[in-house]
Amino acid sequence: MENSCRIAVLVSGRGSNLMAIIDAAERGEIRSKIELVISDNKEAYALTRAKEHGIRTLFIDPKEFKTREDYDRQIVKHLKEHQIELVCLAGYMLLVTPYFVQEYKNRIMNIHPALLPAFPGLDVQRKAIEYGVKVTGCTVHFVDEGCDTGPIIIQRAVPVLEDDTPETLSARILKEEHNIYKEAIRLFEEGRLVVEGRRVRIKSGRNEDLSLKID
Ligand code: GRF
Repeated sequence: MENSCRIAVLVSGRGSNLMAIIDAAERGEIRSKIELVISDNKEAYALTRAKEHGIRTLFIDPKEFKTREDYDRQIVKHLKEHQIELVCLAGYMLLVTPYFVQEYKNRIMNIHPALLPAFPGLDVQRKAIEYGVKVTGCTVHFVDEGCDTGPIIIQRAVPVLEDDTPETLSARILKEEHNIYKEAIRLFEEGRLVVEGRRVRIKSGRNEDLSLKID
């Protein structure tokens, strides 16, 4: 992969995580390139953002396929045509099928706005407030056959404040989502993520080794 890889981002909505990845690539914070953005939703604002940055976009309509697996076969076909090495789900509302997971084993990442395994699924910022947790956060994980169950790559904690609403909490979590997604991509492109069962070991990079010596 030579410290850079060909990325596809799958989206359904506004695409702020997509935008964070685009920004990171344009600023040189990651070396990988987004080759393709795919959406199951024609109206996704993420598609507009991608086009504005000269990225190829594709709307694939789930309604045109008999089964979810047929749909994923179509997506995988496009991914392979574009020699995609890493798939980033960013606000993608469909669950990927086992077929897709097997085709891209440990090469599909997802961002989730809670500290998994707490609060999987949807509307989790509201659920965190209602449950009364004092700390929540976000998780980047590899995607397996379950819903939000794959091996965890990076997590970041975010405190829940007394007067938080789902909106204010979501906004603070989102900032951290944008930070950890690009970090996870950087670790991936540097070949530093090693999946060992449920655990993802992060191999130290050259810079880390140096800073250890200086300290
Ligand atoms: C984010 O909160 C992400 O964690 C969740 O869906 C939301 C997508 O937001 N999976 P955006 O489309 O990236 O702005």
